[in-house]
Amino acid sequence: MKQVLVFSDIHMRSQGETIIGLDPFARFQQAMSHAIASYPEADHVVLLGDLTNSGKQAEYYRVQEVLADCPLPWSLIPGNHDNRDNIMAVFSGLPRTGQGHLQSVVDLGQDRLIMLDTLDGPPFRNDYHVGFLCPARMNWLKQVLAESGAQRINIFSHHPAFATGIRAMDKIPLKNGAELLALLAQHPTPTHIFSGHVHRTISGSANGQGFSMFKSTCHQTPLILRDGDESMSVAEPAAYGVVLLMDNVVVAHSEEFQHAIHDTTPQPEALPE
Ligand SMILES: [Fe+2]
Ligand SMILES: [Fe+2]
Repeated sequence: MKQVLVFSDIHMRSQGETIIGLDPFARFQQAMSHAIASYPEADHVVLLGDLTNSGKQAEYYRVQEVLADCPLPWSLIPGNHDNRDNIMAVFSGLPRTGQGHLQSVVDLGQDRLIMLDTLDGPPFRNDYHVGFLCPARMNWLKQVLAESGAQRINIFSHHPAFATGIRAMDKIPLKNGAELLALLAQHPTPTHIFSGHVHRTISGSANGQGFSMFKSTCHQTPLILRDGDESMSVAEPAAYGVVLLMDNVVVAHSEEFQHAIHDTTPQPEALPE
């Protein structure tokens, strides 16, 4: 079995800045330290986009500060609140495609993890939240699928390629999500898709492929299906994901780290009756 820890929608801000009164740095730091203590045997960590709130270099340095405490190998992908140039300026040496997109592959035993860069740009626009996989990124994906000898494909895409029923968020999806789903359906091995962006724990299937979505490590989206404001945020409990990749089974747990008990101390012998 392989374990992957997933941190989505960190929305890091500069020192002293908060989101609906919540401190994204403190939340991410708490999530990371809880995860490392609870799952030290994990195989990989994924930061699932919206690493920052406004794509500033100062915000990426604060993400980097927390990541410095992570002893596990990690990958990151951008979301609509990110700036690719500033990510690369702060995190030197990140794997990327020949066209400069932050897409990469991680092979874990029988599983291939594929990180997709769904940021629609440049130019970076702080008020534009739709995702897109341009022809260059789709062609890269076709190639890494074709050359894969893995028995299962795990796609990591910040923007969901499907509707969630939350209409405010369904207005800002991966705009060519149907194209991605059709490509994955052609691939002969099973595929599971992991996404963020909506700031909720959601699961289902799209075009026959299973998906799992994770909460933000900071602020959440209320479950309001009717039309609404996509910037509406609530302080529901935050979480990170714990993905278990087993033979023929993919499991996505949501760990609400502020409330979770993960007791690693030895249990005392049961008292005699
Ligand atoms: Fe987000
Ligand atoms: Fe997002």
